[in-house]
Parts: sequence; C-alpha cells; structure tokens
Amino acid sequence: MIDLVIPDKTHDENRQGEALILEPNGKNNGRKLYIESYGCAMNFSDSEIVASILAEKGFETTKDYNSADVIFINTCSIRENAEQRVRNRLKEFTIAKVKNPDMVVGVLGCMAERLKSKFLEEEKLVDVVVGPDAYRDLPNLIDKVDGGQKAVNVLLSREETYADISPVRLNSNGINAFVSIMRGCDNMCSFCVVPFTRGRERSRDAHSIVAECTDLFNKGYREVTLLGQNVDSYKWSATTPAQYGAESTVVAAEDKQVLPPGEDLSGVVVNFANLLEMVAKISPELRVRFSTSHPKDITDEVLYTMAKYDNICNYIHLPVQSGNSRVLELMNRTYDREWYMDRVNAIRRIIPGCGISTDVITGFCTETEEEHADTLSMMDYVQYDFAYMFMYSERPGTLAAKRYADDIPEAVKSRRLKEVVAKQQHYSYIKLQGQLGKVQRVLIEGFSKKSDQDYCGRNDQNAMVVFPVHPDYKPGQYANVLVERTTTATLIGKIIPQTL
Ligand code: SAH
Ligand code: SF4
Ligand code: F3S
Repeated sequence: MIDLVIPDKTHDENRQGEALILEPNGKNNGRKLYIESYGCAMNFSDSEIVASILAEKGFETTKDYNSADVIFINTCSIRENAEQRVRNRLKEFTIAKVKNPDMVVGVLGCMAERLKSKFLEEEKLVDVVVGPDAYRDLPNLIDKVDGGQKAVNVLLSREETYADISPVRLNSNGINAFVSIMRGCDNMCSFCVVPFTRGRERSRDAHSIVAECTDLFNKGYREVTLLGQNVDSYKWSATTPAQYGAESTVVAAEDKQVLPPGEDLSGVVVNFANLLEMVAKISPELRVRFSTSHPKDITDEVLYTMAKYDNICNYIHLPVQSGNSRVLELMNRTYDREWYMDRVNAIRRIIPGCGISTDVITGFCTETEEEHADTLSMMDYVQYDFAYMFMYSERPGTLAAKRYADDIPEAVKSRRLKEVVAKQQHYSYIKLQGQLGKVQRVLIEGFSKKSDQDYCGRNDQNAMVVFPVHPDYKPGQYANVLVERTTTATLIGKIIPQTL
C-alpha cells in the first residue's frame, strides 16, 4: 500500500499497530490489557468500544505487551499484506506467551471474522477469536479461556451498533474523536471483503450519536469525524421515543422542524443530511467531518447542508476506484465515469473550494492500458487533494475472486500504481501551492511531531498546517494561520492574531 499523503487519522499509517492506552477509571481487577489496532478508522473506533467494555470489568491498559495479562490485536483483511502484517505480529507475541502461559491472546476484527475458528488451528498461540459484532461477549470469552478452553464468537448481527456504549477514547489528544454512525456494508463491491467481515449495514440511533457528540464537546473535544463505510446511506427511523437524553435538539427529516430533546420521533426518518445538521447544531465551535462518501449515494441535500454550516468541514473523501466505466461495472460500484464526474461537478458547484480525496485500485481483473489511462485522466479532471492508492489484491470469497481471474501481472499493477502515484504527487503539490499567501482557519491539535516549538492542526480542507507556538493560543482553539511555505505534504505558516 502506498499512502501518498496522510491528511487524516482515518488512514493514518502512524497509528497502525500502535499500543492503545486509556486513562485509569478507578476500577481495577489487577489485570492488564494490551490492545493494538490495524486497518480503518472503524477498527480504531471499535478498539475504543472493546476497551470500554473491559475497563468496566476493571482491566487497565498497558503499552508493554510483555507485562499484559490479555493481548488483543484488532485486525484488518482488506488486502493480503494487511493480513500478513498481523501474522508477523502474532509471531512476535509468542515469546511473551511462552514466558507467561496464563496470558490470553485474542484476535479481533475483520480477520477474525473472515477466518473464524480456522485461526485457532493456524496460529497456535491464539486463545480467543472475536468478530466485530461480538465484543459484548468478551468478558465471558476471557472467563472461558481462564477456565482452560479456547473461545470463538464470530456471530454477525443485524442490530448491534453498540449505541448505548459511550466509548472511552484511546490515545486521545482530547480534541478529535471518531464516532461510528453505522456498521457493516450492503454494497458488495466485487473486490471487497468488508461485507463479509462486517455484515449487513445498520444505522445507529441518531439520538445516541448526537448525545455522544454533545458529551465530547462538553469534555473539550472540538472535532468529530462521523464514520461509516458508506455514510450517505445512513438511515434511521425512530420506533421508540428518545431514550438517551441528548441535550441538543433533533431535526426531523420531512419538514425540517426542530424537535426538542425527548420528543417522540416515531415514524421520522433521519437521513445523513439530517444527521449532519443535528451534529453541526451542537455548537458552531465543534467541527464536523465524515468518511466515507459513496459516489452512488452522495446527494445534493448533503452538499447543501455542508454549504449551510461553516463548522461542517469542506472536505469529501469520494473513492473513485477506477476512471473507466467497464472496470467500474466489473467492480460492481454501480456508478459509471459520467455519474462520478457529475457528482464532482455538483461538489464544485455547491461547495466551491471543497477538498476532495479518493481511493484508487490499479490492475483490477482484465484492466487494459486504455482503461488505466481513464483513471489517470479522471485524476486530471478532478485534481484530487489527496489519494490513497493500492494495487488490486484478490480476497478469498469476494465476487471478483469467484468470477474473474486476477490476470494483471504484479509488475504491470505496480507500474500502473507508480503512474497513479506520480500523477497524484503532482496534484497534491499544486493544491498545496494554491494555499500560499492565504489565511486558513486551523483547529490547533497539539505540538507538531518534529518540535514542541510548533503547533499543528488541519484546515477546513483537511490539509495539515504547522506554525510556531503563539502564547495566546492553546490546543483545542481555532487560529487564523497565514500560509507562507509548503513541504511535500504540509502547509507551513504563522498565526495572525485576531484583533477586536
Ligand atoms: N467503503 C469505502 C472503502 C473502504 S476500504 C468505499 O466504498 O469507498 C478502503 C479502500 O481499500 C477502498 O476504497 C479500496 O480502494 C481499497 N480496497 C478494498 N479492497 C481492496 C482490494 N481487494 N485490493 C486493493 N484495494 C482494495
Ligand atoms: Fe467495500 Fe464497497 Fe462496502 Fe466500500 S462500499 S466497504 S468498497 S463493499
Ligand atoms: Fe476496516 Fe480493514 Fe475491516 S479496512 S472494515 S478493518 S477489512
């Protein structure tokens, strides 16, 4: 995988495999949990749910797996190398387990769901295998292992959204948080393993989302990223009166009237545009981001809602995968080149200056040179701010694996990837250059990685901005920053203090 620019934590390579730590909550059963996560932001968000469930039972987290009583590795199956990385990591845990045979080693997440009990046969040190919908069962499963058995729960659910679990935040800077708004995926893109590992799509109770975001804001958080594999198909209808005591108001979908908290929302359908509005209304000081948008489902209503609220960031991650209609059809993406371009035109029309990023797959089954050239020309058309670019990796059980031969040689896939990466580098550079001399509103997230003399934060379009610390500004505050220089992936500038 090549991540050219890493603008947000949704795809942050730096977080892959990092030990996730949480503040002690006063409950202590004397046992320590080591947890690390791979894959997408949804997996990281799930690790927070797992840590919440175990913290309730008195587990404390540790950064050192050698001193842990329970090691959990939350896994990703999206490409073969993601799985290989986990296998290698498991080997590293072997010595710790030999030293401490009572240690519980658990595999969570997408790989657990894909391989199920096969994992126990293939990786002897693994004691527990738990799929993404079975985390409530973790305390029981650990008890089972303590009793000398191996334990597996990979049941997928049509209902589970963990809506009532207000997750603890792991490795948090206290400013940005991820909030899952839905689970699973019903799209069946032919290359993709997610519908098999995450199950059917289901939307989380809108009240619980607004309540969680309000709580985060009250605790000092200033940015929430709403997460789903396809946020545009978010749809929730209240069948029961509000139960979660959200302090915010709720906007009803049909007539846009504002309902007070606790109102019976029976029969009201909340779509993604409505949800965005509900979260944006919590406070103008709370930034709202979201990921991932699906080109087939993103509506003008969502775009108009983004344009209406200054605190909904002007940034859309809109994975194209391929610029060629025949390949898109084989991929079962259910849109074609023209449809995608129309959506980009709508974004440009309704939200001028909106940042757009994408995902691209090179060397999908039967892709010709001309079809690959269509992907390059799409990149010229859209001029993406960022892109995540991958060679096609066949995943067992997917439609593509069943129907089509993985017939593009590795060398060709890789050459095409290099061309796509070079093109993106060009446009990323141009996009950053376009910000020179402009003043950007930046949410200060903390000190820059390289120096505690500098702050870093992101602008509305999700580009990272680094600037010298200013005595009047603290992390969590917004600052106007004049962009003076750029590096390959970052804007560099200085704060222009606000004068009243
Ligand atoms: N739900 C998101 C994608 C989630 S997976 C969407 O529909 O856009 C993130 C990215 O991984 C995908 O957009 C795709 O570009 C890439 N990906 C998924 N399966 C892949 C595979 N088998 N080989 C290579 N890349 C893949
Ligand atoms: Fe996978 Fe497609 Fe669902 Fe995205 S929309 S998670 S690519 S099946
Ligand atoms: Fe995410 Fe990887 Fe699963 S991308 S949904 S963790 S397969």
